[in-house]
Amino acid sequence: MPDFTAAWLALREPSDHAARSPHVTRAVACALKRNAELCVLDLGAGTGSNLRYLAGRLPTPQRWMLVDRQAALLAHAARADGPGVAVETRRLDIGRIRNKSVRSLFDGKSLVTASALLDLVSERWLREVAGLCADAGAAALFALTYDGRVDCMPADEGDELVVRLVNEHQRRDKGLGGRALGPDAADCAADAFAACGYRVQRGRSDWMLRADASELQRQLIDGWAFAATEVAPARATEIDLWRARRLEHVTAGRSAIRVGHEDLGAWNGEAFDQFPQCRSAKALAERRNSRRSFRSAKAFTLHASERRTRPRSQA
Ligand SMILES: C[S@@+](CC[C@H](N)C(=O)[O-])C[C@H]1O[C@@H](n2cnc3c(N)ncnc32)[C@H](O)[C@@H]1O
Repeated sequence: MPDFTAAWLALREPSDHAARSPHVTRAVACALKRNAELCVLDLGAGTGSNLRYLAGRLPTPQRWMLVDRQAALLAHAARADGPGVAVETRRLDIGRIRNKSVRSLFDGKSLVTASALLDLVSERWLREVAGLCADAGAAALFALTYDGRVDCMPADEGDELVVRLVNEHQRRDKGLGGRALGPDAADCAADAFAACGYRVQRGRSDWMLRADASELQRQLIDGWAFAATEVAPARATEIDLWRARRLEHVTAGRSAIRVGHEDLGAWNGEAFDQFPQCRSAKALAERRNSRRSFRSAKAFTLHASERRTRPRSQA
């Protein structure tokens, strides 16, 4: 699997944070034990985006262990500590989930988390991790798992082909225990944690990329075209023409892309709405959430259709 760059992770971070499900985060935060140092394990932590999102939303004091195989990314993460938040980094290949050095990471952790990682892992890896969380008595929070849905606006005749090929590519071995789960990862995680006796909470965390996210859109389109061509080299010309048309929409400021993601929280114990401290917060979060997703979905649709009906000269 190619390395992830710090520049790519920085480019996607604002969209990642905007997309995350506050309801799932809150449900997990409420399930965590209070009055003790919260020990968190962040798998595939990259430059620490997950830590930057979660630190202010979880009880303090916190002690984070950020693990990644790329030392260059962890070098950024090491600077991410703040008041009440201690950060340690460890360079390790977490694909070797049966190795003692990886398994021991889970010891004493109250929360195991990852963002934008789960679609890269195999079913075997995921089930091992669910078991390790259960052994440690840790809650789990896996954010921004790609679920296979992509909507590009304006629509193009090549979208369906490219998304199908990209989803095929997603299932290739990414070095995390075998064939990757890709779009099936969130369902598999829900099943694996439920099998370990966990309560599971799921929430949508789609990217809604509007015209102002042009650089992220460009890099996504390039990446998808590259992956699709790797899967179907015989269709390279068709894919390249698709790429050119999509990039033209981006340059003209009329492109919008929705990428389906899911957040999943899992914990052992009471249901979220049974926690007294969270009952009213849950109702509030649900109200906010439904208003937010309705507003953003509507704005997203309006944006794309407005652009579509505009004369070409104004686009
Ligand atoms: C899509 S990035 C997400 C990074 C970060 N969690 C975020 O949300 O910005 C996936 C991360 O998983 C790491 N990763 C992939 N395979 C790994 C492995 N076998 N061992 C350790 N880290 C791995 C990559 O280096 C990369 O930082």
